[in-house]
Formats: sequence, C-alpha cells, structure tokens
Amino acid sequence: MEQSPLGPRSYVVRGRKTEAQQRAIDELWPVYGVEFDGSPLDLDTLFGRVAERTVEIGFGNGENLLTLAERHPERDFLGVEVHGAGVGRVLAGARDRELTNIRIVRHDAVEVFHTGLAAGGIAEVLIFFPDPWPKARHHRRRLVQPEFAKLIVRALASDGVLRLATDWEPYAEHMVEVLDAEPALVNVAGAAHYIPRPEDRPVTKFERRGERLGHAIFDLEYRPRP
Ligand SMILES: C[S@@+](CC[C@H](N)C(=O)[O-])C[C@H]1O[C@@H](n2cnc3c(N)ncnc32)[C@H](O)[C@@H]1O
Repeated sequence: MEQSPLGPRSYVVRGRKTEAQQRAIDELWPVYGVEFDGSPLDLDTLFGRVAERTVEIGFGNGENLLTLAERHPERDFLGVEVHGAGVGRVLAGARDRELTNIRIVRHDAVEVFHTGLAAGGIAEVLIFFPDPWPKARHHRRRLVQPEFAKLIVRALASDGVLRLATDWEPYAEHMVEVLDAEPALVNVAGAAHYIPRPEDRPVTKFERRGERLGHAIFDLEYRPRP
C-alpha cells in the first residue's frame, strides 16, 4: 500500500493525460499552478490579493471548482488534486472562463494541509465525492480520517465551514462518525445527521455517476465549535 509519513495514501495516480490536457499544463501551469515543496504557501502573494478563500480537495475534472470560481469573483479558490488529467482540464477551463481567482496545487492534500496552510486562513473546505475505498482492507485509505479532520480544523477560520458530499452510504456513515467525534467541529445538521442537498452545489461527474447507479447522495456540513 502506498504510504506517506502521514499514513496510507487516499489515491492511486492513474490514467493518461490527453495531448490537449498536457498542452494546457505546459502553457497554463505558470499562470495558475502552485509548486508545493512542503513549505508554507503564501496565499496572499499567490493570489495577489487578500480575500476569503475556499480550498477544494480532489476536484476531479474541476466542474465544481470552475463553477464556484466564476460565480464568486470576490473569493479565491485553491484546488488541490493529484490527478494530472483533471489538472489539465481545470487549467484549460480557467483560461476559457478568464478566471483570475483560481490556483492549483498538484499534490497530496493531506500534506498540503499538514505544512502548507497557515492556521485559521481558510474560510471554506470542500470534499465532494472522495474515493470511497469500499473494501474493508482499504478503509484506512479513506481521506476523511481523525488526523486529517484535525488538520482541516487547524486551517479553518473560526467562522469557516467544511462541506462534504458522497454517494457511498457506508462512507457517509464513516464521515459522520469521524467528524462528529472531532471535538472542535459541530455537525450543522445535528449529531449523526446529514443536511439536505444544497441547491447551489454544482453537480459533479461523480455525483452523476452515483445517481446513475441509483445511489442516494449525502451532504454534510461542519463548523468550528465556537
Ligand atoms: C472520486 S473523484 C471525485 C472528483 C470530483 N470531486 C467529483 O465529484 O467529480 C476523487 C478525486 O480525489 C482525488 N484525490 C484523492 N485523494 C487525494 C488527496 N489526498 N489529495 C488530492 N486529491 C486527492 C483523486 O485524484 C480524484 O480525482
């Protein structure tokens, strides 16, 4: 099992980039890409301004990230993803929509939260349809774990919010169990409950896939305990 100093990795790097995606990376990485070497990220410098910031972890092909960045030009959006094809797509999408409020880190989000983000600097963290790792022997690879919850809490502003969604009921139950047990977080829906699907949450590829398979969708929202 692929392992980092922080535990088993929540992903396997797979899939090939198309030529267009590789071209987008070559041309647009200097515009939107953020090199991460483990040092703290200076987000004010990277975005060239001070603004409320959203971090989306595992944005996949970036539908949600691009839609939100276009909808909220007053906010900054940091996307963290390891999948090269998705990074290529989102870079091309950001250029096509002429977005200036997006930056992309191609790296393990656990490490980015561990050393890259200052305490209290993030207004919103999004984790939509993370890999469910359905087999019991792989559950340790799930992104939502007690240690990672603590890293998210540390990064969140005191009035910040953590939003999650999944179409895999056992993972939804796991998320609630882990996050309800984190003393610094409050489940907005009440302990062991889910929120109704937010109407303004853009539909993503993996949500559509879940719906095609007949899965119910579970939305969760947590805020730092006052
Ligand atoms: C099932 S896909 C969902 C993509 C997208 N959010 C959606 O709803 O369509 C999960 C994504 O999370 C990414 N991922 C998994 N673990 C990650 C990690 N530790 N850091 C960054 N990205 C990760 C994967 O590469 C994959 O693209």
